[in-house]
Amino acid sequence: MYVTRELPGDALGALRGEHDVEVWPESTPPPADVLRRRVADADALLCMLTERVDAALLDSAPRLRAVANCAVGTDNIDLDACRARGVAVGNTPGVLTDATADLAMALMLAAARRLPEGVAEVREGRWGPWNPGHLLGLDLAGATLGIVGHGRIGRAVAHRAAAFGMTVVHTSRSGGLPLGELLARADVVSLHTPATPETRRLIGEAELRAMKPTAILVNTARGSVVDQAALRRALHEGWIAAAALDVTEPEPLPATDPLLDAPNLIVVPHVGSATHRTRATMAALAAENLLAALAGRPMPHPVP
Ligand code: DGY
Repeated sequence: MYVTRELPGDALGALRGEHDVEVWPESTPPPADVLRRRVADADALLCMLTERVDAALLDSAPRLRAVANCAVGTDNIDLDACRARGVAVGNTPGVLTDATADLAMALMLAAARRLPEGVAEVREGRWGPWNPGHLLGLDLAGATLGIVGHGRIGRAVAHRAAAFGMTVVHTSRSGGLPLGELLARADVVSLHTPATPETRRLIGEAELRAMKPTAILVNTARGSVVDQAALRRALHEGWIAAAALDVTEPEPLPATDPLLDAPNLIVVPHVGSATHRTRATMAALAAENLLAALAGRPMPHPVP
C-alpha cells in the first residue's frame, strides 16, 4: 500500500503489522507523477486532501481496491470514478468536529476582537496609552450567528456559540432559514458546507452584499465555497466588516494573491483539525478503513 505522508500516532505501525507499506517521506505532497508511479502496483492508498484521486490516477492503478482519505472532506477524490471501478473510499468523520469548531470560534473571536491588529501594534512598538475608543470590536454575547451547513461541525459551532450568549440561526439543505434571510440577520456568518458543485461560490457578490456592513465572515469549510474576488472587494469597499478564513482557493494561497491586500482579513493555513490528538485519531481512522477493506470487511467509515 502507498501512504502519502508520515502519520502522527500509531497508524503506520498498525498498517505495517499487516501489510507492506511504502510512505512518501517528505512533508509536502508527492508530485502527481510520483503518486501515479507509486500507486501503479498498490492495492490500497492512504492519502491526504492534497492528493487528487481522479479517473486518470485510478486507471494507472489497476490493483487498487481501497482509498482512505485522512480527512472528512472528500472533494479531492472522484467518488464516481472510484465507484465505477469498485474502489472503496473511506474518510474520517466525527473525530475532527471539535477541533474544527474550536478553530471557527477562534477565528470568530480573533476577527470580532481585532486580535491581529492588536498583536501587530504591540510588536511594532505602536502600543499607545489606553484609550476608550481604541480597537473596538464586536460583542459576541447578544450577536446573531448564522451557520451555513448544519452538519456535525456546524452544530458543534452552534453549541459553542450558544455558550457565548449568541443567538444562533442556520441554513442547510434540509431546513433552517433561507440563505438570504440568514445573511441579512447574522452578525457573524460561519460556513460549514462540504465542497460540492452546489456549494461552489455559494458566497459571492450578491451574498456578501446581503450581509450587514458590520458582519464577519468565517470560513473553515472549503475555499471553493467563497468567491474570493468578490470577498476582496467586499472588504475593500466595506460591504462587510471582516473575514477570517482557514481555507482558500488555491491552497497554499501565494503571498502575492490579491486577496491578501484586503483589510480586516485573517487567513490561517488550513489548520482546522491541527491538534495532536485529532490528527493522530484521523490517521488511526484512515488506517482502520484500509485494514478493514483489505481484509474484505466493510470500512468502518465508508464514503457512500
Ligand atoms: C478535512 O478533514 O476535510 C479538513 O479540512 C482537514 O482536516
